Amino acid sequence: MTKFTSVQEAIDKGSGKVSLRGWVFRERGSNKLKFIVLRDSSNIIQCVIKKEKFPEEKFAEADKLQIEASLEVSGTIKEDKRAPTGYEVEVDDFKVVGTCDSFPIKADQNREFLDDNRHLSLRTRRMTAILKIRSTVFGAIHEYFRGQGFYEYQSPIFQSVQCEGGSTLFRAEYFDKKDVFLAQTWQLYAEPAIFSLEKIYTIAPSFRAEKSKTSRHLTEYWHAEMEFAWSTFKAIQDHGEGLIRHVIKKVLENNSADLAVLERDLAKLKTAASKPFIRMSYTEALEVLKEKAKMKIEWGKDLRTIEEDELSKMHDTFIICSNYPKDVKAFYMMEDSEDPSTVQGCDFIAPEGYGEIIGGSQREHDIEKLKKRLVEMGEKPEAYEFYLDTRKYGSVPHGGFGMGVERLISYICGLDNIKDAIPFPRTPLRYKP
Ligand code: 4AD
Ligand code: MG
Repeated sequence: MTKFTSVQEAIDKGSGKVSLRGWVFRERGSNKLKFIVLRDSSNIIQCVIKKEKFPEEKFAEADKLQIEASLEVSGTIKEDKRAPTGYEVEVDDFKVVGTCDSFPIKADQNREFLDDNRHLSLRTRRMTAILKIRSTVFGAIHEYFRGQGFYEYQSPIFQSVQCEGGSTLFRAEYFDKKDVFLAQTWQLYAEPAIFSLEKIYTIAPSFRAEKSKTSRHLTEYWHAEMEFAWSTFKAIQDHGEGLIRHVIKKVLENNSADLAVLERDLAKLKTAASKPFIRMSYTEALEVLKEKAKMKIEWGKDLRTIEEDELSKMHDTFIICSNYPKDVKAFYMMEDSEDPSTVQGCDFIAPEGYGEIIGGSQREHDIEKLKKRLVEMGEKPEAYEFYLDTRKYGSVPHGGFGMGVERLISYICGLDNIKDAIPFPRTPLRYKP
């Protein structure tokens, strides 16, 4: 049996016999030679098939090879400065595994066409680079939380309550039941578990019926969330900062070639990963917006995208904005005892205008305040009985946050649309393939 290596392993070996398998990335030929640039998940390499070495019908097979056909080749690798990755394989034998007739994805096609053909455009070098970085990001999130002593814990996706507001709630067709929704967050089902595990995290899909078409919103996204007992508001922010730094550091360590494919400015990532995050309150944010950007926002209004972007332009690292007015934030956020018109909630705003990456808070534990805020939102507190119980039986200070994984990937990769941060994006208009 032939022992195949990856293209990268063959390049690392640099000389001698190699056997490779992959797909045609580029091809050109003359009546004497056929050049194939072969790609696999690791890299690309030029292969040359010389007519003189093969019977006529066999060379004709090579001559017919088109972009994205799959094949196995065996031959001798040697350095060749003219080849795209500095090495070339002179082919002794090859086998066409799957032919390919005019692959639909070509250079410079529009976004719509690429999205309609996502099952094929996933193979492009750009998407391959993004998917590799995505894999590092997921691994690094697990690594951070496990390293900090958190247990991985799963909440249900079918849920009987809302958590982040009714306007973005997806209703599920659940037999004859009316009030069943897709998870907006794991949070209300995570809080009960801190009483058994104390420190927990997850990475799971969340669903938001966001009707607005923006470059930052998906209807289905991956949500990295954490919750822990005995928390302080500061410790929540420290974990958010620790997590983002760890993830960026891992990508810089493992994915420099992929970041190069994406032409990402590494200096910007390195700065963001090494400098302490900027911490400011909502009230301070309004002051700097007024002073430096001539934007006058009435105290009590939520920060909009344009204001977040303006703030992010002022710094080259993340901003943690805290103590928002109570009325613009979720019902479960803890009232700040020093300033009861604000809550101990924070948003992490990424540099370069990538917007909110993390939302988190200390949780309110006063059961009466929670009930009152639910009623104000038009919710029936009865439906939240299981959640309110967490405040009845040995309640403790606790809190946590949620991080939009695709938002972080968009920022790390420097993408202009969040749709490229996930293999098969879902938006109000895009649910196929
Ligand atoms: O700020 P959000 O709504 O907070 C929560 O869901 C809390 N329950 C989290 C928690 O404390 N456990 O969402 C958290 C993050 C946002 O900061 C954003 O990065 C991301 O989720 N996010 C989205 N990402 C992509 N598409 C969307 N439609 C998103 N909505 C939120
Ligand atoms: Mg938020």
